Amino acid sequence: MFQSMQMAPPDAILGLNEQFRNDNNPNKINLGVGVYKDDSGITPILDCVKRAEQQILEQENSKSYLGMQGLEAYGSLVRNLLAPGKLEDGRAVTFQTPGGTGALRVAGDFLRQKVNAHRIWVSSPTWANHPSIFKAAGLEVATYDYLDDNGVTLDFQSFCDSLLQIPAGDVICLHACCHNPTGVDPTTEQWQQIAEICSKQNILPLIDFAYQGFGNGIDEDAAALLPFIESGNELMVCSSFSKNFGLYCERIGALTLVADSADSAQIALSHVKLSVRTNYSNPPKHGGAIVQAVLEDTELTHLWHKEVAEMRDRINALRSAFVSNMAQRTSARDFSFINDQRGMFSYSGLTKTQVDNLKHNHSIYIVGSGRINIAGISNANIDVLCDAIAAVMDV
Ligand code: LMR
Repeated sequence: MFQSMQMAPPDAILGLNEQFRNDNNPNKINLGVGVYKDDSGITPILDCVKRAEQQILEQENSKSYLGMQGLEAYGSLVRNLLAPGKLEDGRAVTFQTPGGTGALRVAGDFLRQKVNAHRIWVSSPTWANHPSIFKAAGLEVATYDYLDDNGVTLDFQSFCDSLLQIPAGDVICLHACCHNPTGVDPTTEQWQQIAEICSKQNILPLIDFAYQGFGNGIDEDAAALLPFIESGNELMVCSSFSKNFGLYCERIGALTLVADSADSAQIALSHVKLSVRTNYSNPPKHGGAIVQAVLEDTELTHLWHKEVAEMRDRINALRSAFVSNMAQRTSARDFSFINDQRGMFSYSGLTKTQVDNLKHNHSIYIVGSGRINIAGISNANIDVLCDAIAAVMDV
């Protein structure tokens, strides 16, 4: 059976990581996969996480299975991050999931198999894995407009016009903040309008919340969810704690389903459990235990907020350093739009040819769409990077 198979194409993001590992150039730079790095190029373990792990090591007394929903206290702690005090009336249920990707896949299975939804709309462009996850769940994937013709700022009018074309009963995937891959987010007022359109059109929002805290702040970034929650309509939120807790390899996230009543929420919960059971049965514990230990402890939560702010500030400082370094090297393009984008990523406007040239001639790895992981830039590599980008732009 395996003999006649053809090689599958490499993953647009993780495949690039593999190529980077195999590159022997000592000056190679990886701006592909969305992983935060400090100035020495290390993806650090947060202090709050280290301390939480110490507590867990001392106190944990069993490795028995968790329930399908995960750790008991986890759900309300996660909901408190989404909308403090607003989701505790029974209308919302939360599942601890293996990463944000696990949450998206469970949501996709639930929507296709239990709700009988047929189609999900994703932004053009979106995270390269979104269409694959939803297609694997059996959903048809369609796209809505997002960017201006310049490819680096939001075209809100076209965005709204496309939303108005979405038929009732469809699902829309939105990014709460730090849009992946562009770094271009709607304003608070625009979120209000988006929520109103979803409500009017009777389309179900599925909100991917993978970068809470990397935009403007942990609470500030959750503001995007508020108009959806306050509308009283149904909603699904997929959280990831890979980036904001630096827990990439622990695979920890959450799926929160908000129904119109506590009774409907319990019914939906019973169905999501079946989707979990047929995916991975019940979630791994360690990442959830860390998040729980941090969020249950005031001092650790305070430390976490401080550490997230440090990562965010560093990325924003790198944005302006990149913009001014590029301005010194070339007038072929004004990169100042990068200062307005938020989160780990920026759509750089580099073409596919320029991206290929950077990889083959400079060992600089950027996703084919021109998405740059700003968090991968450092004092040590910024000159090499900007020289190389200026060089490929002059070709
Ligand atoms: C990314 O977009 O680079 C991250 O979300 C990591 C991944 O799994 O693709």
